[in-house]
Amino acid sequence: MARLLHIDSSLFSQTSVSKDVARTFRETWAAEHPGGTVTYRDLGARPIPPLDELTAGAGYTPAERRTPEQQAAFAQREQLVNEVLEADAYLFGVPMYNWAVPGTFKDWLDQILVNGKVFGLEPLPLAGRPATVVASYGGGYFPGTPRDGWDHVQPYLETVLGKALGLDVRFITVQLTGAERVPAMADLVPQAKELRAKGHADAAAHAKALATRFETAGV
Ligand SMILES: Cc1cc2nc3c(=O)[nH]c(=O)nc-3n(C[C@H](O)[C@H](O)[C@H](O)COP(=O)(O)O)c2cc1C
Repeated sequence: MARLLHIDSSLFSQTSVSKDVARTFRETWAAEHPGGTVTYRDLGARPIPPLDELTAGAGYTPAERRTPEQQAAFAQREQLVNEVLEADAYLFGVPMYNWAVPGTFKDWLDQILVNGKVFGLEPLPLAGRPATVVASYGGGYFPGTPRDGWDHVQPYLETVLGKALGLDVRFITVQLTGAERVPAMADLVPQAKELRAKGHADAAAHAKALATRFETAGV
């Protein structure tokens, strides 16, 4: 039975668009693949600590040469890495904060990106596994618009998840989420509603396709 690792990173528990759309993915996944399991982390509610010198140093030290302090510091990192290695599929809820990923998501990436464990190996241990990124942006970054090129969420995650880890990454991005809050965006509300509805529809369709693929393969 396939194991889904679901990581959310919005600060907001009730109003988050990325959590809402990721929930649609997850509920469809659960309905279509009832035997599958889900490991969930909400980095907004429970951030994991950023890397510190002791933990990072442990990562550069062969296991048998780590000090007891390094071993203790590395234990949580190993748990996070094992969650990644043991999953068959990934779901990431990632809001845009200051044109990039939230610091909590970057902290999680810094913890799990252990060279020789999840990347830097041939073949890559996660190669080809499906990852779905549900991204939510307050503004619009469409081609030809004033902030075209300011999006450092998708290009960054394409590099890290797609190239460094070798995951098969699909982005479901909902833009203009600020339209209903920001008076200057009022005329964009109809488009924003359409984009959000499309996000839910795409999330459900993609979750169904992936779940069916795992069901058919007997995973
Ligand atoms: C700290 C912070 C920084 C933000 N920075 C940006 C930004 O740079 N560009 C943007 O378009 N929206 C920005 N927003 C708006 C969020 O991208 C938008 O509210 C999005 O829906 C957040 O995802 P969520 O709904 O899942 O929480 C920011 C919001 C917060 C809280």
